[in-house]
Amino acid sequence: MSLQGKHIVLGITGSIAAYKSAVLIRLLVKKGAEVQVVITPAGKEFITPVTLSALSGRPVISEFFAAGNGSWHSHVELGLWANLMIVAPATAATIGKMANGIADNMLITTYLSMKAPVFVAPAMDLDRYRHISTQRNIEKLKSDGVQVIDAAEGELASHLEGKGRMEEPENIVSLLERFFAAGNDLCKKKILITAGPTYERIDPVRFIGNFSSGKMGFALAEECASRGAETILITGPTALPATHPNIRRVDVESANEMYDAALKIFPQTDAAIFSAAVADYRPEQMSGEKIKRSGKEKFALSLIPNPDIAASLGKIKKPGQLTVGFALETNNEESNAMKKMEEKNFDCIVLNSLNDKGAGFGHDTNKITLLFRDGGKQPYTLKSKGEAAKDIIDAVFSPTLSYPIRSNIKIP
Ligand code: CTP
Repeated sequence: MSLQGKHIVLGITGSIAAYKSAVLIRLLVKKGAEVQVVITPAGKEFITPVTLSALSGRPVISEFFAAGNGSWHSHVELGLWANLMIVAPATAATIGKMANGIADNMLITTYLSMKAPVFVAPAMDLDRYRHISTQRNIEKLKSDGVQVIDAAEGELASHLEGKGRMEEPENIVSLLERFFAAGNDLCKKKILITAGPTYERIDPVRFIGNFSSGKMGFALAEECASRGAETILITGPTALPATHPNIRRVDVESANEMYDAALKIFPQTDAAIFSAAVADYRPEQMSGEKIKRSGKEKFALSLIPNPDIAASLGKIKKPGQLTVGFALETNNEESNAMKKMEEKNFDCIVLNSLNDKGAGFGHDTNKITLLFRDGGKQPYTLKSKGEAAKDIIDAVFSPTLSYPIRSNIKIP
């Protein structure tokens, strides 16, 4: 049932494998999906729009304007409508254009406006498939977050044997079903993520900060964005880039600035993940001038508490809104983390222990344990922060999750 009601944009390009798209549409429609075909001019040489519109039950889009009445086909609307886009078959030319943003047809402009996850199923002759430029473009697409369904081996249209056959429609459909069943579809969801350190100014050239790199928060943002979520990343000072078009980055410096930004955005969100290492205190006074060393035997700073962003938002969270926190602990890890979950009204908390090698601040890897409100516990092995982000998002948004975190149980 995971395809029931899903909006799928199917891109078809100029390959002999376009005949398989007809079967793909039939299978998707049978599973309850709505399919909107966008075909390139070359695609129409291989399969007719009449066949495709009859199978999908929707007019096929190919040009920027409808020929009859001149009305505009909005690639922007398609980008918002879709839960998923798949280009199948995808030729070497289309893969190259997607990788380089060459928007000279309706399919590529639709891709560039796409908010939903994108898949491509390449189909071409073996020499074209293994050509260094095609492989480079495929790698580029992967690094842009596109999921590439590897071509299969077998007899090709040229009668040569090798890799280049478009994956069979049945296999594509079961892959998409698994994709949706695993909670990968975050389209139409708005997710707030806090990340990085905060800097608390002492004077114009000094601050109190911490060693947080922001890597975990940025990996979470990339993960949410690639699953289609409108992602708002509020980050403290870090040089990390946030590249996905679904990410809106808000740069802040201090805990107070992060609090103000988060408070404004939180009420409109479906979920918030608090991965920032927020300074608990800030100097009571910020000196307007550089503080001089001369004449001082000792130097004491008076600190006052910063707002607790997660706890404050936990108090105003509405039913159905999900919040996830982080706990970095050195001792009594689990009980400290559970206490934080209670105090801050989280549905789930990600525990890092500083006793684990390779986990926590500055590392590219992380070893996490997820703790849930009902006492559920899920430990993971040491992984890259990107993989750890996948695990967190899988667990938190999976519709098959056994933990009742979606019920948003209130603390009595
Ligand atoms: N947090 C926050 N605002 C703060 C402090 C923490 O939003 N002012 C969030 C963090 O992003 C994290 C969680 O609260 O998700 C726990 O952060 P942590 O610093 O471990 O907890 P503290 O409450 O500050 O406890 P302590 O430092 O005493 O362990």
